[in-house]
Amino acid sequence: MRLHSSSLHGSLRDPVLGSIGFLNEVMSRYPEAISFAPGAPHPDTLENIDTEWYVGRFIDYLVQTGRSPEQARRLLLEYGPSRGIINGIVADALRRDHGIDAPANTLVMTVGAQEAMLLVLRALFRSGEGVLAVANPCFVGIVGAARLLDIDVIPVDEMDVGIDLDGLEQTCRSSREDGRPVRALYVAPDFSNPGAARMSLGRRRRLLDLAEREGFLVIEDNAYGFTAAAGAELPPLKALDTARSVVHIGTFAKVAFPGARVGYVIADQPIGSSGGGTLLADELAAVKSMVTVNTSPLCQAVIGGMLLEHGGSVIELSRRKSELYQRNLTCLVDALDHHLGDGSHPGIRWNRPCGGFFVRVHLPVPVDAALLEVSAAKYGVLWTPMRQFYLGRAGDHQLRLSCSYLDPERIEEGVRRLTAFLSEEIECRSDSGNSD
Ligand SMILES: Cc1ncc(COP(=O)(O)O)c(C=O)c1O
Repeated sequence: MRLHSSSLHGSLRDPVLGSIGFLNEVMSRYPEAISFAPGAPHPDTLENIDTEWYVGRFIDYLVQTGRSPEQARRLLLEYGPSRGIINGIVADALRRDHGIDAPANTLVMTVGAQEAMLLVLRALFRSGEGVLAVANPCFVGIVGAARLLDIDVIPVDEMDVGIDLDGLEQTCRSSREDGRPVRALYVAPDFSNPGAARMSLGRRRRLLDLAEREGFLVIEDNAYGFTAAAGAELPPLKALDTARSVVHIGTFAKVAFPGARVGYVIADQPIGSSGGGTLLADELAAVKSMVTVNTSPLCQAVIGGMLLEHGGSVIELSRRKSELYQRNLTCLVDALDHHLGDGSHPGIRWNRPCGGFFVRVHLPVPVDAALLEVSAAKYGVLWTPMRQFYLGRAGDHQLRLSCSYLDPERIEEGVRRLTAFLSEEIECRSDSGNSD
């Protein structure tokens, strides 16, 4: 039977669902190019991960905490509880590392942060009611999940200092007046993807006050918090959340390895008016039982073993990775300053994030797939057009550079190529004055 695309769910024709495939396709056609496109982990961080050994470490822990070796082995080979099997270890790590006081029963282990987003949105949004506000530009994963579920998304501008709180307040007011109140806000307060925004402590507190006042939940994505320089860490929103307004989503994709596909969500919100009821986490586990049933126990065991081996601390587990990504980011910004910062490239500017994987470059011309093709074919350098991360008409004059998986020499060479591309192709087409 031939199917008409118009007979399939509308989200399948939404560009956001094709955005990752588009980049992979361009990269596959230019394997020799230096790619600043993907936010992939640095290959060094994947060396010497002895998954079997970590599984053994976790089995030893199960035996030490009361299971027989046979029970421990079976736990990893059978279907498991939807909420997960390493929740206690993760809850302890979050308490130790960040002061997040979330008991194990408030956590659900998920197939990456991506599944956590889907579960949370499914549970929170009734058909046709309420809207999801997102920091704009926005991670495609949350917008894609909302599209799959027919949830309306409303953008709120994000600057280098984080989401525009006055704009958010205004959005809450106008959405309420329209009869479609903001039910939840998605935000990544530490080095968002793609904007690399970071919220100060004061702004975090203001956001939580606003959430309480306006009655929306904050979906916090903490994928890049670990990249903060030592001593410059800020508490996640969840550590400041006294009103249970925050649903916190984390992932082991960057602090351990992405192939594990292990993430988690803290959902400690009580359901119902009196005590003794259920938690949002229980509802998420019920949704999960109809999506992926459970997160692979073997993969959870590897992550559990990695955490135990690093003193039960994500900070310890990720310390060297954090240093590596700090080094790469410094390298990228220094190379941009060195090659493009001499004042002879009008209209070209970039931000200077202090963590995360990404730098944004503003150009005086529109940045689109055709321009990327020229950059790849003639200059051997790839990047991501920022347009695909924006809702509404914005971001046309920006590109995103990711420095996570390159070595310093490749970053330097990549910026040289980028400089040649910008000097020869961009400055002559410049419609300067038009930038966003
Ligand atoms: C903002 C953000 N959240 C979450 C993730 C990770 O998601 P997952 O755990 O599903 O790999 C990424 C990965 O690129 C990301 O950029």
